[in-house]
Amino acid sequence: MAPASFIVPPGCIDLTVNDPTACGFVYEQSLYAPLTDEEPSRYRPASLGVEEARLAIAAYYEARGVTISPERIWLGSGTSELFLQALWLVADPGDSILTPAPGYPLHEMLAKMADTRPVEYALHYDAGWHIDRSSIEAAWCDANVAACCVVSPSNPAGLYLDTDSRACLEGQCTERGAALIVDEVFADYPLRDGANTFFAATEPSCLSFVLSGLSKVAALPQMKLGWGVVLGPDKAVGQALARLEQIADAFLSVSTPLQRALPRLLEASTPMQKSIRRRCRENFELLREAAGRGAFGVYESDGGWNAVLRLPQLPGWDDTRWTETLRYEQGVATQPGYLFNLADPPPHLVVSLLVPSPTFRVGVARLSEGVDHFVGAG
Ligand SMILES: Cc1ncc(COP(=O)(O)O)c(C=O)c1O
Repeated sequence: MAPASFIVPPGCIDLTVNDPTACGFVYEQSLYAPLTDEEPSRYRPASLGVEEARLAIAAYYEARGVTISPERIWLGSGTSELFLQALWLVADPGDSILTPAPGYPLHEMLAKMADTRPVEYALHYDAGWHIDRSSIEAAWCDANVAACCVVSPSNPAGLYLDTDSRACLEGQCTERGAALIVDEVFADYPLRDGANTFFAATEPSCLSFVLSGLSKVAALPQMKLGWGVVLGPDKAVGQALARLEQIADAFLSVSTPLQRALPRLLEASTPMQKSIRRRCRENFELLREAAGRGAFGVYESDGGWNAVLRLPQLPGWDDTRWTETLRYEQGVATQPGYLFNLADPPPHLVVSLLVPSPTFRVGVARLSEGVDHFVGAG
């Protein structure tokens, strides 16, 4: 049975829902038409992906001012699978992979699945999130670092990779022959205008893989299509693509009809992204206002679908106790910060900004009242 901090009791407002298909966004039925439009019965195996799909991804970047050759793109069933494939490519068993903390737990798990050793580096909060350079230096002391993973914007912290941090990571990877793996699934969701960056806008000096996919870009997690872009010195890119072709050929994981539908699915993502950005910004603002009045704090964030809350430190109250008390006594479900490797103390909670705003408002009011109440009682 699931632990108490993961059950959502009846009547509870659920601020953990991160699945866009369950958050009341409108998906036009016509969106699914291209899946059956053209030759749905024909199979066209292509290791790195069919040409029209790779062209559509290049066009997605072009619309963001980033020119990428379709030849440097490969497809998979999602960012998770592509991350694993990139690790198989660059790492030997026992090598270390640097992963951010706080961070989405998936990367650490996938690093272990690839028989590599995840080594954390820290994101530090000081009026805003930053990559903690000293923890990066310490992590690099590990003898066999095969890759450094960056999530931009990070989940749940919402930190986009800035120019200085990029130069630092790129320099270290180049010096040590390691690869950079940049997960940009949330790059289209800045919480304020102009906060977003795209890694591929500048050619890196080290072998780099930029990963993204439909689950966030088009809010279509059920479609199971992601892509990777290989960047860096030409020779390293050529070798990597040749090897990726073999790895991807063992899976051929994306269906032909879905790949052929990709141009229209990406086209339809523009209005969907707009709706999601509007909601996330509105909810984040609401959260900041509530934090200004209540006993909890909200960390500043530049992007993504989650927000991190800082709870008061009361004797005996950790993430789990706050999560369970708020769920069962206050009727509001949040995620405990430890799931994302957020340090405790202070206790942290993570809430989803995708929740419909009227529901989000009620949930935040319950949370705020609950925190005030338990602080008063504590
Ligand atoms: C930062 C991050 N990367 C990757 C993923 C998984 O993406 P995909 O559905 O493309 O495998 C998630 C899912 O929430 C995520 O938060």
